[in-house]
Amino acid sequence: MKKTMVVYSTISGFTKRYAEWIGEALNAKVCTLREFDIAAAKSCDIIIYGGNLHAVGINGLKKFKRLVQLLENKTFVVFACGASPDRKETLEHVLRHNFTEQERVRFPFFYLRGGFDFSRLDFFNKILMTLMKWSLAKKKNKTEDEKGMLAAFGKPIDYSEKENIIKLVEFCRSNK
Ligand SMILES: Cc1cc2nc3c(=O)[nH]c(=O)nc-3n(C[C@H](O)[C@H](O)[C@H](O)COP(=O)(O)O)c2cc1C
Repeated sequence: MKKTMVVYSTISGFTKRYAEWIGEALNAKVCTLREFDIAAAKSCDIIIYGGNLHAVGINGLKKFKRLVQLLENKTFVVFACGASPDRKETLEHVLRHNFTEQERVRFPFFYLRGGFDFSRLDFFNKILMTLMKWSLAKKKNKTEDEKGMLAAFGKPIDYSEKENIIKLVEFCRSNK
């Protein structure tokens, strides 16, 4: 079996849950981006990075790409965990925002839907999301997604499911 490592960044815990599920399925070591040790990564075949979505950006991805830029003969996999539904247009947007054409080849990408829990955000993100909530509340003709987002401020939503990791896990298992 290939030696695998899962590295993640999280704010409210959804990405951590996915990282742990993936780690369990692939019998991989799991650590945060802060704990990530490049020396340990050298002995791995597959390195998976997961980050929460933050204004379309994948949190921590730039740092991860910088840390692994000199690693050769590794398979990299990246996943993002956001509150948005798993739609083609959304994923295209995330891909364009986070990867160059060349990077798309080096970092195969998966989207794993998380949720939203205002109470678990840090102070800074609570402020950001409160501003967003005010602006959304004022908006006329809200989309269904926007209505769902507003409702989530009062009651946390959790779309994370273990089954969502299947494609990513199969991709890693089929990696030769
Ligand atoms: C400031 C901020 C910006 C966010 N931007 C996005 C976004 O662009 N797309 C999205 O799908 N979710 C977005 N979210 C929601 C988070 O990505 C979502 O709650 C995710 O599950 C959090 O993962 P975590 O618990 O690992 O931090 C945002 C959340 C915050 C606080």
